[in-house]
Amino acid sequence: MAAPYLPTPNPNPEIKFTQLFINNEFVNSASGKTFPTINPATGEKICDVQEAEKADVDKAVAAARAAFQLGTPWRTMDASQRGRLLYKLADLMERDKDYLANLETLDNGKPLFESYYVDVLEPIKIVRYFAGWCDKITGKTIPVDGPHFTYTRHEPVGVCGQIIPWNFPINMVVWKIAPALACGNTCVLKPAEQTPLTALYLAALVKEAGFPPGVVNVLAGYGPTCGAHIVEHLDVDKVAFTGSTEIGKIIQAGAGNSNLKRVSLELGGKSPNIIFADADMDHAVEEAHQALFFNMGQCCCAGSRTFVEESVYDEFVKRSVERAKKRTVGSPFDPKSEQGPQIDDEQFQKILGLIESGKTQGAKLQCGGARHGDKGYFIEPTVFSDVGDDMTIAKEEIFGPVQSIFKFKNMEEVIERANNTTYGLAAAVFTKDINKALTIANSVKAGTVWVNCYNAITPQTPFGGFKQSGNGRELGEYALEEYCEVKTVTVKLPGKM
Ligand code: NAI
Ligand code: MG
Repeated sequence: MAAPYLPTPNPNPEIKFTQLFINNEFVNSASGKTFPTINPATGEKICDVQEAEKADVDKAVAAARAAFQLGTPWRTMDASQRGRLLYKLADLMERDKDYLANLETLDNGKPLFESYYVDVLEPIKIVRYFAGWCDKITGKTIPVDGPHFTYTRHEPVGVCGQIIPWNFPINMVVWKIAPALACGNTCVLKPAEQTPLTALYLAALVKEAGFPPGVVNVLAGYGPTCGAHIVEHLDVDKVAFTGSTEIGKIIQAGAGNSNLKRVSLELGGKSPNIIFADADMDHAVEEAHQALFFNMGQCCCAGSRTFVEESVYDEFVKRSVERAKKRTVGSPFDPKSEQGPQIDDEQFQKILGLIESGKTQGAKLQCGGARHGDKGYFIEPTVFSDVGDDMTIAKEEIFGPVQSIFKFKNMEEVIERANNTTYGLAAAVFTKDINKALTIANSVKAGTVWVNCYNAITPQTPFGGFKQSGNGRELGEYALEEYCEVKTVTVKLPGKM
């Protein structure tokens, strides 16, 4: 079999856009301030980017509001034409796919293979998926009591503030803007301060695709000085956020304290991955490994609590450790690297601190546990066995390459322990027994359950959390609900007909 295609590695892609994108123009920030974006593989600065603050938020929201007024090109455009613009955007992303993958690997540190397949090709599919929805978003006619004719219209919500994290930068841009635009909204998007570059490049493609000015605006900047103003802005109608539960709570409160704007949140997780003794062991070991280590462990749905049935526990741990020791860590531009650096020094320190807590609280460190190399933010693939439910590593999101393996005895026990968390984003079960699989699927409180697989996320699959993993769903048809208001129109008829 031929090796899968990989773009030619280019550790120095030309940086074309570092300004704010407002009303289809790249502009400097009102204050003239900039901030550095860092290459996590080296800790060195890539470039400076214009830093948005309150005045820039006001300007971007005004542009988005103007674009949303009745009678404007965006509001009068046929829905099918909105779809054509989104298809065009996807085509432009495809044209520039190799460049985008290299730019993401530089700014984020993820291996080029993953940038390309997960962070460029998947987003292209997602944009096309939502392009197809544009002229298929329909209301209902409703058989009401009395001599009336009632129908619903699914109208756009308005100006949508969208605040995203750094772990899947291009995916997060399109998870947010594609459904919003499909429904006819306008957007003010803030990428994470760690990874502004691909979002700014996508902004240029939005303009090239032919979207009218003001429909999409991109503001690079920090959370408290830019994101918070989007959240509190009285002329923003909705805010969508992906990130930590801590900031999710601040955002929901900020929306409540300003204009009760609608809020959708996709937050953290501590997802259980349950392996029964009858599972295909090789498959389960590999999937559990990828469930945790994929993207340097920086996944909201990471399988961060691997529960293994008692009778196969020791063997499973042994094989998981062997697999983790084989994991290749190194430059994300090296095609042999499975694992690059963590995103920044803050995450790097947080993860090392949690590894220390695992050691002192009595979990058994099987491999890894330390920094890899002497520059950048690399961490050795780390496996803990004998993890107790009350340890900090069992409860807090680590967001790093640290696998925790727990032992369980039976179904009742594992269901209770799997649900004993404040989170509810995802879960998985590995077994050949359909009854066990469906019992787990029905019993875990999680927005997604995978059976004999992990991280199977496609444009069509709704994704989101129970409990403190957030509210609302992204991707799939359900995503459209987050971006539509339902309007009921009732017309008096001459009589009951
Ligand atoms: P964060 O939640 O602080 O940042 C996410 C986004 O929110 C960024 O764009 C940031 O600028 C923005 N933000 C921060 N403070 C804000 C505020 N007051 N108002 C509005 N926007 C604000 O996450 P951070 O600090 O990058 O990572 C901390 C932890 O959060 C991680 O260790 C991980 O556990 C979790 N996390 C979860 C993610 C997920 O996919 N659910 C993604 C990133 C982080
Ligand atoms: Mg933060």
